[in-house]
Amino acid sequence: MNHSIAGFSKLSKEEKINWIANTYFAHPTEAIATIKNYWNSDEKLQQLHDEFIENTITNFYLPMGIAPNFVINGKTYTVPMVIEESSVVAAAAKSAKYWSTRGGFKTTVISSEKIGQVHFLFKGNTEKLETFFNTIKTKFYTATESITKNMQQRGGGILGIELRNKTAALDHYFQLHVTFETKDSMGANFINSCLEQLAKTLKEEAQLYTEFTEEEKELQVIMSILSNYVPNCIVRAEVSCKVEELAEKKIDYPQEFAEKFVQAVRIAEIEPFRAVTHNKGIMNGIDAVVLATGNDFRAVEAGVHAYASRSGSYSSLSHAKIEEGVFSFWMEIPLALGTVGGLTSLHPMVKMALEILGKPSAHELMQIVAVTGLAQNFAALRSLTTTGIQEGHMKMHLNNILNQYQATTEERKAIALHFENSTVSHSSVVELIENLRK
Ligand code: MEV
Repeated sequence: MNHSIAGFSKLSKEEKINWIANTYFAHPTEAIATIKNYWNSDEKLQQLHDEFIENTITNFYLPMGIAPNFVINGKTYTVPMVIEESSVVAAAAKSAKYWSTRGGFKTTVISSEKIGQVHFLFKGNTEKLETFFNTIKTKFYTATESITKNMQQRGGGILGIELRNKTAALDHYFQLHVTFETKDSMGANFINSCLEQLAKTLKEEAQLYTEFTEEEKELQVIMSILSNYVPNCIVRAEVSCKVEELAEKKIDYPQEFAEKFVQAVRIAEIEPFRAVTHNKGIMNGIDAVVLATGNDFRAVEAGVHAYASRSGSYSSLSHAKIEEGVFSFWMEIPLALGTVGGLTSLHPMVKMALEILGKPSAHELMQIVAVTGLAQNFAALRSLTTTGIQEGHMKMHLNNILNQYQATTEERKAIALHFENSTVSHSSVVELIENLRK
């Protein structure tokens, strides 16, 4: 069946919903009711959400949870997390509590430089291009003054503009490789506006440069865009304590635990199949806070995974060691985040999340996000190297299964009792429900 439609974006919201319901559902009235059930009764609030994107028909809920007791550089944070995976918030909270009595998390922002590039083709003499670039370089700064003025007042702006010759990899390909400091904003719009102006200046000045031949004057700008690879926007997060201090209810033999933990990290350092899952666990924490604070999780994901491959082989983002009886676990990752601009002042829940975190600066948020990632990784590795992941995971997932089978309060009580001392599995829950219903 052909379900294409012309001019969908021009339809009213009501018409869009009707088209979806009538085209894809056997019971359109029910589909419309479900869609509308997720609308907010506050019309203004609904309109705000409608206008975030194109063709909005309704809202899509994700839970926002809270992981308290994160001690970072001696200060205690309560971390809001937006995520659908049942065990993530519980794991973060458990890890936070655990480390809060073992010195807490230590963090440092190592650098916060962002990058953007003007990609262009130049068919001509490379030395002439270099002389041209050096001659007009100051014009790049004057041409972008109106865009950079406010950012400069906040202590940011363009840090450097370099001409890069990429012709060894691609014929005639050069770049303006530009570095930025964007303070508390993620800076995507600022960077892209600067780059588009730089591209315009580049083209205009090339036309005026008398040393260029007619062909050289026609250098061709292909595109101007920020890079989500930010290897110079790095935050470090770490925990450490004496090996014997690792002991707790499920860690009877701390030395054995620490050694097994370090081995698990080593495996992720050298084995990409494991590294991807290991890092996915880190991103469980990172994405949840990035989402809650209205930041661009796709940008963060792309940048983090590129960084994990910087040696040429995909590897673990975190590292661990035992030295002179001290266990250390740490991670350095690139995070381009903002606490002003974008959704931060628009989305009511984002505003709340930032408020809960104490209105952090972008640097502070980088530290909180990195810590949540490290905490998540610690929780996953602790489970994996001790009880196995399913015990905790399925305990949290139990509710989802019970909801799926519309279990009654009585059934829930009986099932909770049954699983107090045994590992939950999907099949065992289903079997139990069926038995109870016989
Ligand atoms: C599940 O979302 C994340 C883990 O697979 C991470 C890991 O294996 O380290 C538990």
